[in-house]
Formats: sequence, structure tokens, C-alpha cells
Amino acid sequence: MLSVYICVGSSCHLKGSYQIMKIFQDIIKEMHLEDKVELKASFCLGNCTKGVSIKVGEEVIGNVTPENAKEKFKEHILMRV
Ligand code: FES
Repeated sequence: MLSVYICVGSSCHLKGSYQIMKIFQDIIKEMHLEDKVELKASFCLGNCTKGVSIKVGEEVIGNVTPENAKEKFKEHILMRV
């Protein structure tokens, strides 16, 4: 199971963490990845200037936006499952 942390710290929250959470949830459902990827909310990942931040394994990925969320998912999550 791959854990994906989505930052819901105040800075990322303002930039759309919950929208990204929703988009990721939809992709997981669509692709039937429920038993491969789990989404978790995280406190500040120390990368506020580049929010929204997510963490996959030990890697923190910044600049996730509702617009590029699908692309980021493919690039950083899909290739690990
Ligand atoms: S609030 Fe998200 S990295 Fe700080």
C-alpha cells in the first residue's frame, strides 16, 4: 500500500488541498486503486511556498494545483504502484 500525504496545513489549505484530495480520490476510484493507494491528510510539510504539497514515500512534491493534479498523480503516484 502506497501512502500519499496531502498537506492540509493552512497555506496549502488555502491553495486547494481539499480539491486535490477529491481529485485524487476520484482518480483512485476510476482506476480501481483502492487497495494500492491510500490518501492521508498531513500537517505542514515544510514546503509552504510551493503548496499545495504532497508527500509520496520520502519525496515531497510541490506545486500541485487542481489543474495539474491529474498529471502529478500520473507522474509521481501511478508509476509507484
Ligand atoms: S502548509 Fe503545506 S507545506 Fe506548509
